[in-house]
Amino acid sequence: MITRLSDEAGHAAARDRIEEIFFLSSGAGSGLVGADRKRFWRRWTGYYLSEVQESVLLYRTPRGVLAAYLTGCPDSAAARPLYDDLFYYRAFEGLYGLYPAHFHVNCHPDFRDRGIGAALVEFFVAECGAAGLAGVHLVTAAGARNRRFYARCGFAEQARRQIADSDMVLLGRLCNRSDPVTD
Ligand SMILES: CC(C)(COP(=O)(O)OP(=O)(O)OC[C@H]1O[C@@H](n2cnc3c(N)ncnc32)[C@H](O)[C@@H]1OP(=O)(O)O)[C@@H](O)C(=O)NCCC(=O)NCCS
Repeated sequence: MITRLSDEAGHAAARDRIEEIFFLSSGAGSGLVGADRKRFWRRWTGYYLSEVQESVLLYRTPRGVLAAYLTGCPDSAAARPLYDDLFYYRAFEGLYGLYPAHFHVNCHPDFRDRGIGAALVEFFVAECGAAGLAGVHLVTAAGARNRRFYARCGFAEQARRQIADSDMVLLGRLCNRSDPVTD
């Protein structure tokens, strides 16, 4: 079942579980401690929990276990704090007109490969379409393992940028599914 963080009364437990899943899913963040860990959390997830709670989607199993979450942002151009904090945010800003929404999705390792991640992505894209948004995007490393997952979810490469040592791609999908596939 998919619900919204904003619908959960006193969502401290959900927030803790999101944090657990986040650090279990993030290679770069898992070894961080103290202020570095806090900064990493704030940059990649905390922002969404405090600023766009209604776009934080939770996937619960029939027993109520929070297995995965999606942190969405319907209007990337308006999310100014992310411009200051995420190294690739400005590099892709010409694409936010056609693909205004973006998201991050993470699934607890015990619950992967069951279609949960794809279900969250479909829910978010449908919701963005219903709200009249043209498209949805995400940014990832060009060689990331998750690219096959996103391709299966209908996301195709729309732009590529070399940023410092990183080869980054913006993967986009139009909400009406008539996306020009360039992958
Ligand atoms: C990517 C992820 C959200 C997919 O969720 P899921 O519920 O396992 O996805 P589904 O069951 O719908 O699809 C399974 C796909 O995910 C891929 N996947 C499984 N574990 C993965 C991992 N650790 N990293 C990347 N992709 C993974 C599988 O290879 C499978 O793709 P395939 O069928 O093309 O081989 C989830 O695997 C995950 O949290 N991965 C680690 C963090 C990550 O890469 N998140 C995306 C950040 S941008």
